[in-house]
Amino acid sequence: MPLLSLNNISKRFGATAAVADVSVAVERGEFFGLLGPSGCGKTTTLRIIAGLEAPDGGTVEFEGRDITTLQPERRGFGMVFQNYALFPHLNVFENVAFGLRARGGRGISPTVREGSLQERVEQALDLVQLPGFGTRRVDELSGGQQQRVAIARAIAIEPSLLLFDEPLSNLDVALREDTRRELRALVKRLDLTAVYVTHDQVEAFALCDRIAVMSEGRVHQVGAPRELYENPANVFVAKFLGRNNLIRALRLTSSNDPSTRFKTLEGGHTLIVSARHDQLMRLAVNKPCLLAIRPEAITVSKDQDGSEAGNRLAARIEHLEFSGATTTITLDANGLKLEALVLQAEGFRIGHECVVTLPVDRMELLSES
Ligand SMILES: Nc1ncnc2c1ncn2[C@@H]1O[C@H](COP(=O)(O)OP(=O)(O)OP(=O)(O)O)[C@@H](O)[C@H]1O
Ligand SMILES: [Mg+2]
Repeated sequence: MPLLSLNNISKRFGATAAVADVSVAVERGEFFGLLGPSGCGKTTTLRIIAGLEAPDGGTVEFEGRDITTLQPERRGFGMVFQNYALFPHLNVFENVAFGLRARGGRGISPTVREGSLQERVEQALDLVQLPGFGTRRVDELSGGQQQRVAIARAIAIEPSLLLFDEPLSNLDVALREDTRRELRALVKRLDLTAVYVTHDQVEAFALCDRIAVMSEGRVHQVGAPRELYENPANVFVAKFLGRNNLIRALRLTSSNDPSTRFKTLEGGHTLIVSARHDQLMRLAVNKPCLLAIRPEAITVSKDQDGSEAGNRLAARIEHLEFSGATTTITLDANGLKLEALVLQAEGFRIGHECVVTLPVDRMELLSES
C-alpha cells in the first residue's frame, strides 16, 4: 500500500481547472517530485495534500485512511514554503519550537515539558547544521540560514510526510545546489517521505526518486528521472525535460518487427526506430508521428568510416556553440535540422560536410498527448 495516494483529484478556481483528475501514489520513504511549468497546478495539488485546500472531486488517502476532509493540523505533515513563513519577531529557537508547541507534534505529549522541547529544537537545528543558533534573531540570518530554520521547524515535529513548495528558489545558485544535496541526504537519513514541488527540471532530477510531470492540471507521466528523460511518454514531457530533437515522420512499414521504418517529412530520410509494441499498435502505416532523439545521443563524424551502428545521414554543420566541457553542433541533413551535443568538436568547422548517426535504440516514438 502506498503511504499517500491522490485518487482522481480535481480542483477548479472559476473557469480555471487548476487540478484535473490527478492520481498519484507516493511510497513510504520516497522523495517524490511534482514538476511542471508555472500555473500547472503544483501548489494547488500540494495544498490539497496538506489539507489547506479542499478538492472538488477525488480523495486523498494516507496510510490507507481517507483524509480528504481532515483538518491540516491533524495530518501531522511538515511544510516548507518558498517564502519560509518564519516569524520575524521570534528568535530561531521559538520559530522551530512553534510547530511543537502549536501542534504537539507526533510522539510528544500535549503537556510538552520544556526539557524535551529544548532537546528536540536543538536536535533539529543540529540536523540543518545551525547548532547554537537558537537565540539569534531570524532577521539577522542569511536567506539560506532562514531556509534551514524553516526546514528545522518542519522536521522537528517528526512529520509523517514532508511537503516542500519551491523552498530553494530564493537562494543563489551555489547555495541552492549545496542546500538541495543536504536536504536530500537529511530526508533519507531520517527515513522521511517527501513531496517536493518545483518548476526546475535540474532540481527535480537531483532531488527526487520519482517525479510526476504536470501541465495544465494534468499528470502526463510518473517515473524515475532517467526513465522520464530517456522514455518520455509524450511530446510535452519530451520537450519539457531538457533539449530534444523532435523529427516529424510517417510510418513506412507495417510489420510487427519492433525495428520499424519511418520516413522523415523534412529531408525524406528513412530511419529505423525500435519502438515499443504498444506504441506501434496505436500508429497506422502512413500516419504522421514525432520521433525524438536527445542531442547527446547523436554522434557526428567527419567521414563514413565511423564505427557506430544506427541511422546514418549526411549533414552539413551550420553552427558550433562551444560551452566549455561540451559543444553543441547544429546540423542540416537535407533540410532536417538536428542538434548534437558532443564532448570533442576539434576539427569541425561551420560549412563542413559530416556524417551523423542516430542510434536505433536511442530514438523514441512519441504520441501527441
Ligand atoms: N486561490 C486561487 N484563486 C484563483 N485561481 C487560482 C488560485 N490558486 C491558483 N489558481 C490558479 O490555478 C492554476 C494553478 O495554480 P498553482 O498555484 O497550483 O500553479 P503552480 O504550478 O504552483 O504555479 P507556479 O509554478 O507559478 O507556482 C493557475 O492558473 C492559477 O492562476
Ligand atoms: Mg506554485
